[in-house]
Amino acid sequence: MVNAGGAFPDASLARMVELEDIVFAWPGQQEACLRIDSFCAATGEHVFVSGPSGSGKSTLLALLAGVLVPARGRVVVNGTTLQALNGAQRDRFRADHIGIIFQQLNLLPYLSVLDNVLLACKFSASRRESSLEQGSTPAAAASILLDRLDLPESLWRRPAAQLSVGQQQRVAAARALLGRPQLVLADEPTSALDAERQAAFMDLLQRECRAVGASLVFVSHDKRFAPCFDRRFSMPADDLSMRK
Ligand SMILES: Nc1ncnc2c1ncn2[C@@H]1O[C@H](COP(=O)(O)OP(=O)(O)O)[C@@H](O)[C@H]1O
Ligand SMILES: [Mg+2]
Repeated sequence: MVNAGGAFPDASLARMVELEDIVFAWPGQQEACLRIDSFCAATGEHVFVSGPSGSGKSTLLALLAGVLVPARGRVVVNGTTLQALNGAQRDRFRADHIGIIFQQLNLLPYLSVLDNVLLACKFSASRRESSLEQGSTPAAAASILLDRLDLPESLWRRPAAQLSVGQQQRVAAARALLGRPQLVLADEPTSALDAERQAAFMDLLQRECRAVGASLVFVSHDKRFAPCFDRRFSMPADDLSMRK
């Protein structure tokens, strides 16, 4: 795989994500679990991140989301240096600017499908306001997204726990896209689907990210989808020459 994630492609493109000289170690561990010289994504760009299990893909997304903070290096998202914010400010920044599709989806099982999607607006006034560009109310915007993601209306009021994994994946995608976040982070969201459904979900996710103008950082150990992306980045463990 061409490791094109490091160098920025075109100086004229606005930068959505810049990560520089990162060293991250888990608390209590001597060895760094992640070292990345540089990683970036332009506004609206779709970047594919691959690497074997344990290579730090989820850790990288947690750094981009400001859930984790590196011991060394800089993480800049949409012009904001995340280390310059305290924990509460990073939580707010994340709620306002970033849509996340977690590996385990993280839907609230007892909440309805619609209410799960609306959670994106619950913690962010700016996401709520931006959702009004997608529909007349946040609930209407959520409905439009669920419809575009091919989730039948008969399911929208059911508890999320009653849906299949593939259906839950589309709910998680709708939640990530509601309120037009500038950045969408997706952590192996297709891993529980069969090959045909994986391709369909990838298409839907990329189409909807383009519709809201979001940059997409999509993480997977499966390189089959790499060609569908604007750029590709291999985790350092996947390419030992990247290690310092
Ligand atoms: N909460 C944690 N505490 C300590 N080590 C962790 C934690 N989460 C992940 N790790 C370790 O960090 C490394 C990278 O994990 P991860 O980012 O989940 O990799 P990937 O997503 O590529 O499978 C692994 O060695 C894993 O064991
Ligand atoms: Mg992972």
